[in-house]
Amino acid sequence: MSQASYDRIVKAADAIREVCGEAEIGLILGSGLSDSVTLEDPKVIAYQDIPDFPVSTAIGHKSEWVSGTLGGKRVCMMRGRFHYYEGWTGEDIVLPVRVMKLLGVKTLIVTNAAGGVNLGFTPGDLMLITDVINYSGVNPLIGPNIDEFGPRFPDMSRALDPALGELARSCARRMGITLREGVYMWFSGPSYETPAEIRMARVLGADAVGMSTVPEIIAARHCGINVLGITCITNMAAGILDQPLSHTEVLETGKRVQADFTALIRRVVREM
Ligand code: HPA
Repeated sequence: MSQASYDRIVKAADAIREVCGEAEIGLILGSGLSDSVTLEDPKVIAYQDIPDFPVSTAIGHKSEWVSGTLGGKRVCMMRGRFHYYEGWTGEDIVLPVRVMKLLGVKTLIVTNAAGGVNLGFTPGDLMLITDVINYSGVNPLIGPNIDEFGPRFPDMSRALDPALGELARSCARRMGITLREGVYMWFSGPSYETPAEIRMARVLGADAVGMSTVPEIIAARHCGINVLGITCITNMAAGILDQPLSHTEVLETGKRVQADFTALIRRVVREM
């Protein structure tokens, strides 16, 4: 099974390399943000044209792989990521991260939309992810270890790279963008959390909750890719405000802060 998994990744990477070439930086962008970053000299391949590659079904997500340059750096980017709640396995969800590894990626930037748990946050805030809590009950590395990528028991004590975090802080400061910081907790979804779950999340140390990103971070660390994570707090989590949560609100807030978010990502990539 391990060999089949590895062969699948190699095949996908070969197909992408042929159209898009290699890259040093990978970008996986969340709901409502996947259109916001544009690359120079883009080369695009649709997920459906990559052998045995999943196709995103989540609203607000496209299904294409783009490579190009940004600030003189070779960047590859997923427009559309895969979520556990769509029914994909852990292995499917992290396939693109492993493909990135084979394409030469050393640094991964992940972004997402999340509910704010920290009562000091406001919808529209950007948050540097300083650490994560895997509350989904799954781990994308379950199954035979793929030794070509990393060890059976990878260290997660620096899930998010401190130097990249410092660079993001510095860029945000110079751009006049407020960048909050905190812990992102992964719930499987697709139902939003209950108010009781959000109170629990706060007690356990979460500042934001969402349905993505953690599996990609785990797979990236497994294969030695450094990660920067930035969250857009699109709504306050369940039970904090006297109003129901909606995906429309998530997408609308994402749109509202898209310009700042994009500018920050571009600046960070340029200064890497
Ligand atoms: N919970 C989980 N995922 C989310 C939320 C939320 O409140 N907002 C955006 N993604």
